[in-house]
Amino acid sequence: MTFQHQPVLLGQTVEIIAGCNPARILDGTLGGAGHSSELLKRLPDATLLGIDRDQVALQAAAQKLQPYQDRTKLVQATFSQMTQVANKIGWTSVDAILLDIGVSSPQIDTPERGFSFRQDGPLDMRMNKNDAVTAADILNTSTQEDLETIIRDYGEERKARQIARAIVKRRERSPWRSTRELAQLVEDVVGFKNQHGLPPATRTFQALRIAVNHELEELENALPSAIRLLSPGGVIAVITFHSLEDRIVKQTFQHEAATCVCPPKMPLCTCNKIQTLELITKKPITADEDEIRLNPRASCAKLRAARRTNQPIDKKTDNQESITNKSNHGRQQ
Ligand SMILES: C[S@@+](CC[C@H](N)C(=O)[O-])C[C@H]1O[C@@H](n2cnc3c(N)ncnc32)[C@H](O)[C@@H]1O
Repeated sequence: MTFQHQPVLLGQTVEIIAGCNPARILDGTLGGAGHSSELLKRLPDATLLGIDRDQVALQAAAQKLQPYQDRTKLVQATFSQMTQVANKIGWTSVDAILLDIGVSSPQIDTPERGFSFRQDGPLDMRMNKNDAVTAADILNTSTQEDLETIIRDYGEERKARQIARAIVKRRERSPWRSTRELAQLVEDVVGFKNQHGLPPATRTFQALRIAVNHELEELENALPSAIRLLSPGGVIAVITFHSLEDRIVKQTFQHEAATCVCPPKMPLCTCNKIQTLELITKKPITADEDEIRLNPRASCAKLRAARRTNQPIDKKTDNQESITNKSNHGRQQ
């Protein structure tokens, strides 16, 4: 099977990462290695650690990266495990980290993987086939309340309660198995077009996928690890595809780039805040019309990037010394 995935925001991502001339690059979402192969081509002295939780993606990436195999190491893992994986190959730090989060086109386009409501397939949605819980397991065993929470919180679906109720009622007849059946049920509840003109099942399928793969926890756990793993001056670039993920990246980057997090009314800074990142992108980079025309999946992509400062994370400064006048932090008193 050929692995067809068009990397999004390729030029912009490569520019940002190549800009710090990294010797060690960690790609936590290797996929078909679209970004990584471009980086290795551009940076002949760089070595890559490529991580993906999907065995099919790793096989495709190995093929694509064959010309660079003497400078690549590929590992099946989740990106929240990046520190352990890097340490295992003897890396205690890296100079660049890329996370291009979400699903690849082959995952979506292969009906047997169960990610798509457009074609019929089993309700699977696991990025790693060895994981224990499928979408069908969640649909068949969760309480109505839990289903409502998943669909509302991870799908931002206004009709979460009605959908959850219909899912539970329908499973009294027989267990959930097929993507088409779920898509039809959601369409019956939501109506033909949902609130943003998206196909009606979009939000429910996104919610289940996030729940099956613990996608938000993965990101929340990975970002602090990534910041610790980066060498001073190293760069992190994250591409997200929906607002829940983008919010996590934006808030983490902003917090890590802040020099002080004391309440605004405090006359003196007492927070000992260590600035671990400098923002490279104040606003996210998005795809232009040409890219979206060629690859509609790029339309919701957002790229944020930041540079690791020289500040050691674990070194706590002496409390007395760090009680600095807030004007030093560029804050209004
Ligand atoms: C959008 S694709 C990446 C495409 C890649 N940048 C390229 O150019 O071909 C996302 C990939 O990340 C993987 N993935 C998603 N979440 C992951 C996680 N928490 N840990 C490891 N891999 C993950 C998916 O299996 C998928 O292969």
